[in-house]
Amino acid sequence: MAANPKSAAPLDLERIRRDFPILSRQIRGKPLVYLDNGASAQRPSAVIEAEREYYERHHANVHRGVHTLSQEATDLFEGAREKVRGFLNAASTKEIVFVRGTTEAINLVAQAWGRPRLGKGDEIVITWLEHHANIVPWQQVCEQTGAGLKVVPIDRRGVVDFDAYLGMLGPKTRMVAIAHVSNALGTVLPVEKFVAAAREHGIATLVDGAQAVPHQRVDVRSLGCDFYAFSGHKLYGPTGIGVLYGREEVLDEMPPWQGGGDMILTVSFERTTYNHLPYKFEAGTPNIAGAVALGTAIDYVEGVGLDRIAAYEAGLLDYATERLSAVPGLTIVGTAPEKASLVSFVIDGVHPHDLGTILDAEGVAIRTGHHCAMPVMDFFEVPATARASFAFYNTRAEIDALVTALGRAREMLG
Ligand code: ALA
Repeated sequence: MAANPKSAAPLDLERIRRDFPILSRQIRGKPLVYLDNGASAQRPSAVIEAEREYYERHHANVHRGVHTLSQEATDLFEGAREKVRGFLNAASTKEIVFVRGTTEAINLVAQAWGRPRLGKGDEIVITWLEHHANIVPWQQVCEQTGAGLKVVPIDRRGVVDFDAYLGMLGPKTRMVAIAHVSNALGTVLPVEKFVAAAREHGIATLVDGAQAVPHQRVDVRSLGCDFYAFSGHKLYGPTGIGVLYGREEVLDEMPPWQGGGDMILTVSFERTTYNHLPYKFEAGTPNIAGAVALGTAIDYVEGVGLDRIAAYEAGLLDYATERLSAVPGLTIVGTAPEKASLVSFVIDGVHPHDLGTILDAEGVAIRTGHHCAMPVMDFFEVPATARASFAFYNTRAEIDALVTALGRAREMLG
């Protein structure tokens, strides 16, 4: 991914690795080589400590009490929202909705934005490389409303066909929902171009940033999208917390998604009035500790520097691509010119699940399977791939360990 060379000073890998306690674990007597960051990244001590400190010193419910702990918890929770706002360069904290993760964010948009607006003949455009979280919620709202799904094709490299996309935009298109980075292939989409074209037609846009925010700086205002979604656990934060960014004027027009406490101003049996943004979309007690620790994860990532992360990971990707390409019988699936730091691959005659099991015996953790992106597997006519996905704490030595373990697996299975 593109990085600003001025701020791309080398990372202090030894210090960074010490910050992540799990990286010193042994797995089956071998040092852990964790290359499954696309599924979920690991947490630095600062994030683990933030959650512990929150529960040990500050926990109470938010927005509900005048007592000290409730106010402290509220301040920490809202402080985290402000950190997310800054991280995405959103205009206001009203535009930052805490959710469980990317999946919940997209479901929220499909139901609260899509369901009241869509009707028979309306179209939602997605791409062939989406993961299930950006397919199924749209299929569900299509079933509910009579709208239809259009899918932009990809080529054999895993690049989305932009001309085909332009050809699909028309008066019936209501929403374009696209990945920023493909989880199964690593393709980075030029989302600015996709969003700009949709906006010219007055079409709403959602960008699924789950695989993008850990690897590059995202500025939702310069991107110009209506919605942007990401998950905390891929960004070195806790599980069960994520973010939906929505442009204020768009969120304002949407009805709430779920009903309950905190999303209301007044309730009587005759009538309920709804809270202001963003609380209108946060029914019930939220994942307060998760949000607080996500704020700490953002501090951590900003401290390392997203430009430095992007530059370092680009080097890792080049090295991994070169080393893996030299493994006999190995084919890389997903060869787009712009890729994030992950490599999907298959090896002749070896099922990815068997590979994953043998690699685990060597201490190497990769993901094997369909990566929650079955249409991508269908396109490449494979049941599954093996995927090594890198974080800024990974090293070239770990990529060497992966390649050595693959050699051992080929001896055993080939
Ligand atoms: N979407 C996650 C992945 O890519 C779970 O592995």
